[in-house]
Amino acid sequence: MSFDNVDYTSLDIPAAPFSDKSIIPSFTHGAVPRHVGVIMDGNGRWAQERGLIRTNGHQAAEPVVFDIIAGAIEAGVRYLSLYTFSTENWKRSPQEVHFLMGFSRDIIHRRVAQMNEWGVRVRWSGRRPKLWKSVIDELEIAQEKTKNNTVIDVIFCINYGGRAEIADAAAAIAKEVAEGKIKGNKVTEKMLADHLYLPDVPDCDLVIRTSGEQRTSNFLPWQAAYAELDFVPELFPDCSREVLWRSIEKFTNRDRRFGGVKK
Ligand code: IPE
Ligand code: IPE
Ligand code: MG
Repeated sequence: MSFDNVDYTSLDIPAAPFSDKSIIPSFTHGAVPRHVGVIMDGNGRWAQERGLIRTNGHQAAEPVVFDIIAGAIEAGVRYLSLYTFSTENWKRSPQEVHFLMGFSRDIIHRRVAQMNEWGVRVRWSGRRPKLWKSVIDELEIAQEKTKNNTVIDVIFCINYGGRAEIADAAAAIAKEVAEGKIKGNKVTEKMLADHLYLPDVPDCDLVIRTSGEQRTSNFLPWQAAYAELDFVPELFPDCSREVLWRSIEKFTNRDRRFGGVKK
């Protein structure tokens, strides 16, 4: 099956509206996580359960992505990382990979105005090699257009792999050691963090994975070293901002100790 003839730039998908203020939870127990990461999993199973092809599941995920962005804004989350395509997802069939590349590109293109209106700063985290140039181009256009927005940073992790990110940081540091800018025996955690793809983005506080799988699949291993984890049963296309809010509610009741002892 080929998706070459489908023009996803012209699909008419309505903007996710903001909620009636009265239904937004107030998260009274503790602070809302500053940085939330979402492993958006279960699109293929959602489609298969309905006798559809896997890519229909990815299409069904689009409105959910924007509902969750709207819900994150309403909850007061400042950074939202969305695991969109991993460095391991190239193992999938050429048809599915082709679809995911074209679809990601078209979503960014089609939704940038809406995100800009919402005050979203669009960002990309991932590796350049192998990623379609047209995807990188759309991401760069969106980054430039939204660079002054301050409501929320939405980070699309595309061709992202946590081990690749750490290896790339190590390579950049090794180069600086070779150039004599850094002493090899003076490499610190802070230095490594400063060489990650988006060094200004703070550590991830909460990672949510949908679809019931209990693993993190190479998502933010450095940044989420002390994150709270929430594995929720819903397949991603069945999710909504309420799923995010429930996870945030649970987060506000967790006891984070970071290796210390609570007074
Ligand atoms: C998540 O859904 C989307 C991507 C990884 C791109 P999947 O496509 O992994 O769906 P399942 O896990 O096979 O159901
Ligand atoms: C993780 O989901 C990657 C994304 C959501 C983009 P996968 O479906 O690729 O992960 P595994 O294969 O179940 O670990
Ligand atoms: Mg999956």
